[in-house]
Amino acid sequence: MLEYLLTILLGFISVLLLYSFCGRRRKDGEPPLIKGWIPFLGKALEFRKNSQEFLTRLQKKHGDDFTVLIAGRYITFIMNPLQYPSVIKHGKQLDFHTFSDSAASRTFDYPPIRSGHFPGLSDQIQRSYTLLQGPALDPLTFSMMGNLQKVLRQLFLSGDEADDHWQQAELYKFCKSAMFQSTFKTLYGHSPHLDLDQLREDFEKFDDMFPLLMARIPIGLLGKTKEIREKLIRFFYPQRMMEWTAPCKFVQTRTALFQDYDTLQDRDKAAHHFAMLWASVGNTIPAAFWCLYHLISCPEALAAVREEITNVLGEKNMQLIFKEDITITRQQLEQMVYLESSVNESLRLYSVSMNIRVVQEDFCLRLDGQRSINLRKDDIIALYPQSTHLDPEIYKEPKRFQFDRFVKDGKEKTDFYKSGQKVRYYRMPFGSGATQCPGRFFAMNELKQFVCVTLLMCEMQLLDGQQEASMDNSRAGLGILPPANPIPFKYKTRKTLDCTDREE
Ligand code: HEM
Repeated sequence: MLEYLLTILLGFISVLLLYSFCGRRRKDGEPPLIKGWIPFLGKALEFRKNSQEFLTRLQKKHGDDFTVLIAGRYITFIMNPLQYPSVIKHGKQLDFHTFSDSAASRTFDYPPIRSGHFPGLSDQIQRSYTLLQGPALDPLTFSMMGNLQKVLRQLFLSGDEADDHWQQAELYKFCKSAMFQSTFKTLYGHSPHLDLDQLREDFEKFDDMFPLLMARIPIGLLGKTKEIREKLIRFFYPQRMMEWTAPCKFVQTRTALFQDYDTLQDRDKAAHHFAMLWASVGNTIPAAFWCLYHLISCPEALAAVREEITNVLGEKNMQLIFKEDITITRQQLEQMVYLESSVNESLRLYSVSMNIRVVQEDFCLRLDGQRSINLRKDDIIALYPQSTHLDPEIYKEPKRFQFDRFVKDGKEKTDFYKSGQKVRYYRMPFGSGATQCPGRFFAMNELKQFVCVTLLMCEMQLLDGQQEASMDNSRAGLGILPPANPIPFKYKTRKTLDCTDREE
């Protein structure tokens, strides 16, 4: 027995020795290399536990740029936002799509679109994103407004209590319910036969496993996740989607586009639609939660945002909301600077998205006047905007929610400084450069609409003695963090409040 244990121990030590002598070594001109002592995994566990703390520690020790082995990939982190422009402008050598195509196809289970089997598909998909922006945003905003009001009326008026009684609910559950249904209907359309609550439940189970799928853990090891993913994909089969009325132009165009490719099976098309559902609600829901949570936690912020909504919409319009749909146009949303700042402040505080690029060839990246680093083909370059968002030099008291942080002289504040220099990329929840999130304008609008309609329809308060909301840090590097603990709140509809009550 002892002999057997000794053999295993010796084997283990030999693997470690082999790893440290024959594994990758830092070459001249390359950033400091941190591999950890566990082969393949490297520093994955420390990164996953608290990425912000881990990277800040490495930055203090090694400087603004360093390479870390994480789950088999060598990732070079660029930590100083003043160096971001150098990375962002090198679109040719530092490519976003190589990574996103392979990660998305593995996670949502469709064939990679840049594999050569689907000529032109990737470009056409990119072109379809214009239907989430510019003039196309008007019908989307209009449709979202109608859907939000219907969904919220139903949620607020479905309780047994009379209208003028306080009722209780849980805040994240409320945000999930309202945003999931409204966004789904706005993008994919309606049908009386759709069970959106069941879809949401399945979606949440899949989403809980999302970080593990992105970390390349085989889906077979993740319990029922494969089965649930299959169910979610089947929801979007072309025969089913044909029965849904009034999908938005963007989804119609994607459906027609997939139809043009004989090489795409019906299941692949469905998987693409499912992936888009994930992109459209996965981050918007937690962002809606944080914004509403901070507004109802801070009387000053709530009063300022309420006053702004009243000023822009007018009292008469607001009183109608329980009787008929009111309209808030894109232009009216743009006038709500405190509301916009509150949404941006929530995104600043809770966004942990990593911006990832894959190095296409060995090359030397010039970072600024003095510094350049050598990079190797197939390595990953990562920008980690959370470290910028929480940098005390750029943002005073960076961990505090300050609803008017992004307002200056009644307009959006855009000047933030580090080392005496203006920081161009000071807030990056939606990524950067040419690969920025194509749904960002729609997302900002729907977040503002959600807060407006909710505040118009009801009074909301946190319960006395309520514990503060904390972040669920298990999704390092991925989008907007959800809350870790439940936040019960009470609400009373404003249906019976008169104008004087409203102004209090
Ligand atoms: C608060 C809400 C949202 C956040 C924080 C967010 C964030 C992001 C980020 C960080 C990326 C990767 C960009 C990069 O690395 O350069 C991304 C990509 C993407 N987002 Fe969003 N997003 C949000 C809402 C939406 C919505 C509402 C939609 C669609 C209706 C959407 C559609 C997409 C798509 C399709 C991509 C992939 C683009 C590509 O592959 O070129 N997102 N998003």
